[in-house]
Amino acid sequence: MNSAAMVTRSEDLKIAPSLLAADFSRLAAEVQYIEDAGADLLHLDVMDGHFVPNLALSPGLIKSLRPLTQLPFDVHLMLTHPQEHIPAFVEAGADRITVHLEVNSTPILALIDQIKSYGVEVGLALCPPTKVETVSPFLSQVDLVLPMSVSPGFSGQSFQLPALEKMDWLKQKIKRDNLSVTIQADGGVNSDTVAAVVANGATILVAGSAIFKSDDYHAAIQELRPSSSPRE
Ligand code: DX5
Ligand code: ZN
Repeated sequence: MNSAAMVTRSEDLKIAPSLLAADFSRLAAEVQYIEDAGADLLHLDVMDGHFVPNLALSPGLIKSLRPLTQLPFDVHLMLTHPQEHIPAFVEAGADRITVHLEVNSTPILALIDQIKSYGVEVGLALCPPTKVETVSPFLSQVDLVLPMSVSPGFSGQSFQLPALEKMDWLKQKIKRDNLSVTIQADGGVNSDTVAAVVANGATILVAGSAIFKSDDYHAAIQELRPSSSPRE
């Protein structure tokens, strides 16, 4: 049994492949393969070329994928003006919308309220330089917190270790204050980093290249689950 398995049961973990790392020339097939391979959620990274130096995934594209799968859509908005686009992502089929704490075009509480008003779950993400304590005033209002372990914008980057301390801080705070908040990991999550991520409290694991760049999606997803209780 590895250390992750001692603290988190396999069935408590959710694996969320990040479509950003998929083969875009055959996107529909990729979505169906990943569901068949045992994914729990589909993580959809949305980028505006301003908040982050890359462009990705429009509401129209996400909407076109919605009929292809039963997987919940976990939409990660890396946008300078998310408030202008939230309705379109709800319409596209988002089950949870995560916005960044660094957004300053709208007060964070207003963004949280806007997302909640549509009855979808709300997440708050933090870029690596952002202090984790900054999220405190919002913890009772959100379903999920994501202390990112890479600079947002691209798949395939190396895991930044300070994210583990943020996860641990969140884990203690959530326990101490008896909050109902899930910790998500996103960025550089793979078979080498997963045990530490889970040991520090993350229970939704986003992985892009570790899954979509592998030859066997099912095996790649299994590698991210605690080894004590394999899932078939
Ligand atoms: C980065 C995105 C991630 C990314 C993860 O801005 O938020 O979801 O696709 O990719 P990997 O797992 O390859 O780091
Ligand atoms: Zn993401």
